[in-house]
Amino acid sequence: MQEQVQILQNKQIASGYYHLVVRSETIARNCRPGQFANIRISDSLDPLLRRPLSFFNYSTETIEFVYRVVGYGTSLLTEKLVNDTLDIIGPLGNGFNLDIKKEGKVLVVGGGMGIIPLYPLIKNLAQNGFVLEVLNGARNHDELLLLDYFRKDSIPYSVTTDDGSAGEKSYVTNILAERLAEEKIDCVFGCGPHPMLAAVAKIMKETDIPCQLSLEERMACGVGACLGCVVLMNDGSYKKVCKDGPVFLSNLIAF
Ligand SMILES: Cc1cc2nc3c(=O)[nH]c(=O)nc-3n(C[C@H](O)[C@H](O)[C@H](O)COP(=O)(O)OP(=O)(O)OC[C@H]3O[C@@H](n4cnc5c(N)ncnc54)[C@H](O)[C@@H]3O)c2cc1C
Ligand code: FES
Repeated sequence: MQEQVQILQNKQIASGYYHLVVRSETIARNCRPGQFANIRISDSLDPLLRRPLSFFNYSTETIEFVYRVVGYGTSLLTEKLVNDTLDIIGPLGNGFNLDIKKEGKVLVVGGGMGIIPLYPLIKNLAQNGFVLEVLNGARNHDELLLLDYFRKDSIPYSVTTDDGSAGEKSYVTNILAERLAEEKIDCVFGCGPHPMLAAVAKIMKETDIPCQLSLEERMACGVGACLGCVVLMNDGSYKKVCKDGPVFLSNLIAF
């Protein structure tokens, strides 16, 4: 679906991070956890390519995004004002598979910005009575996102930072390994930087617990037409992150 959406808010929430809220009549009603939108940043042809952003939150009439300013497109996006319109295509991608066991605990592992696409999943799991714990890791205190949301929603979470400025000075993957050794875990979900996801996949390989990872690749078309986002799978095939993913079982991905 393609829709012209009206900006309701585009506010800086921390240094380099923005919270964008738009009014949507069609896409919002069809979003699922783990999906994303491809956003046209400018009315001109510069930049030509849309920029993909994950759904952070949605209701029947609004969609929220959280984005980090990293380059040209996201810088331009910060200049958008309330009541401006954006051309967005979505919902895109497969999203997380929510058909999972409900016997033990579900772990949701986020690294840095990776916690953003996990938030709709976390809310969905909590609302559906799953016992869950969020393992949220970041480089430092300032890059830890969403802790206020977890507190507000009474969602159990553990925090690690690389420099020890918040939570345990460790990698979030170390906590994952500890939980797997100590508790009955039904399923693991993850999103974050590539090295973190590779580490999660390596840990999960030693278990028979299903693990769904959401990947990020540079994208062009966002709809499976250009092959710009392909990733290699363990069976030698290539999958399109935008269309076949962004969520894949960890044991299928060739890290
Ligand atoms: C499915 C998907 C969901 C995403 N969700 C979010 C989100 O919710 N919030 C958010 O802040 N970002 C998200 N991203 C990343 C976001 O799309 C990029 O940061 C953005 O497109 C960069 O555009 P730019 O013009 O500002 O940067 P550019 O000038 O194009 O690039 C600047 C820097 O960002 C890096 N970069 C560019 N694109 C990506 C990418 N796709 N993944 C990782 N690094 C990239 C480049 O390597 C470069 O170092 C997502 C990406 C994908 C593929
Ligand atoms: S971005 Fe074009 S195929 Fe995925």
